Amino acid sequence: MQKLWGGRFSKQTDAITEDFTASIQFDYRLASYDIQGSIAHTSMLCKCGILTDEEESLIVEGLNSINQDIQANNFPFDPQLEDVHMNIEHALIQRIGEVGKKLHTARSRNDQISLDMRLYLREEVRQIIDLLKSFQSSILLMAEKNMEIIMPGHTHLQHAEPVLFSHHIMAYFWMLERDMQRFVDCLKRINILPLGACALAGTSLPIDREYTANLLDFSGVTENSIDTVSDRDYIIEFLSAASVCMMHLSRLSEELILWSTHEYCWVDIDEAFCTGSSIMPQKKNPDICELTRGKTGRVYGNLFSLLTLMKSLPLSYNRDMQEDKEPLFDTVDTLKQCLHIYSRLITSLKINAERMRLSINNDSSWATEMANYLVRKGIPFREAHHISGRIVAANRDIAEFTLEELKQFSELFENDIFEVIKPEYGINQKNSAGGTSLKQVKKQIEQAYRKRIE
Ligand code: ARG
Repeated sequence: MQKLWGGRFSKQTDAITEDFTASIQFDYRLASYDIQGSIAHTSMLCKCGILTDEEESLIVEGLNSINQDIQANNFPFDPQLEDVHMNIEHALIQRIGEVGKKLHTARSRNDQISLDMRLYLREEVRQIIDLLKSFQSSILLMAEKNMEIIMPGHTHLQHAEPVLFSHHIMAYFWMLERDMQRFVDCLKRINILPLGACALAGTSLPIDREYTANLLDFSGVTENSIDTVSDRDYIIEFLSAASVCMMHLSRLSEELILWSTHEYCWVDIDEAFCTGSSIMPQKKNPDICELTRGKTGRVYGNLFSLLTLMKSLPLSYNRDMQEDKEPLFDTVDTLKQCLHIYSRLITSLKINAERMRLSINNDSSWATEMANYLVRKGIPFREAHHISGRIVAANRDIAEFTLEELKQFSELFENDIFEVIKPEYGINQKNSAGGTSLKQVKKQIEQAYRKRIE
């Protein structure tokens, strides 16, 4: 087959070279964006007098018909044509003849691929932001539904202080809120037109990049043609944001896995989101959580692939950069899948309030409130900490202490201490902004709703 770039070649490409260099097996996913970009490029060429009106409509018509066939799964992508750009351009020339050869005027695949990737990623990031929003809504509902449930809060995975379950789960809302802001921020740098950088140096033809940017709804045009075809920062930024987001999902997964163990029994993951064992009849495994935790490693790997891919590349375009696609596509697919399934899993999650509350009995998570009680009576915190610590060291259930016994540790204890060491009391006393009191949790939920409307 005559290659579109075949002019200076007298030999046929070896089949093994075609196979090795082809990217159509994965970059076919960019086809509709490639066509969208080509249509805008054609209109710009016409507006600038480089194409006639008639040539423009022939090319646009041809591209639309190719798009229809692609959407109908009726377009034969050919690895001999290397990539998505040349598959489409070749089909265009076949369909409309000579005039099709004018499409690639004032354009190179180097700026074209960046355009396709930006159009693709812009759309995907918008979808990811929507998925994050629905996931946040599931978390909000879960918090409201289980507003007053008390659980032991942990540090070092040891009982620390009692907290409201709604407070704990809302922590994930804010993690996802930051994720969303990161994606919104990424969009700013994705949404800039690279087309017109051409191979690396721009073009001597009289093009109008601003015009193309407007047609494609970009917020501006890139400033330096060499940077433009060298740059994959917008992909790396996306992969970083995706990695942080997956890290959050992975931490949630880890907690749900732990909480659904026989030992904890704090949550019940709906059967629709679990799988069984081929040998142990009793098993109901939290596979979605485990797979999400596992896929997080894979997304980190994709980020590292790209960072490593780019680290030693001289400016400007190098073919190495073709290797950016599979890690990007894989990350987009993985993240979207995880966010989607997690919204549903969280919506159907059942909380075992009794078991959560029971696990506080007999522990010493009253100790900080006891120290604060003594502080309110005028004892310096360090000393109060010590007194409370000595009571912990007695290693007895606090409910069994009499006031006389407590007074042996400090004369300042009065009967009201028995109220103070109740988890409910401690929780509602924690009324500092962002604290775990019911009042503060309600306030953060209101704040969260306000964010949703913004
Ligand atoms: N398939 C290439 C890529 O993904 C498109 C750009 C090719 N440019 C070139 N000069 N060979 O990066």
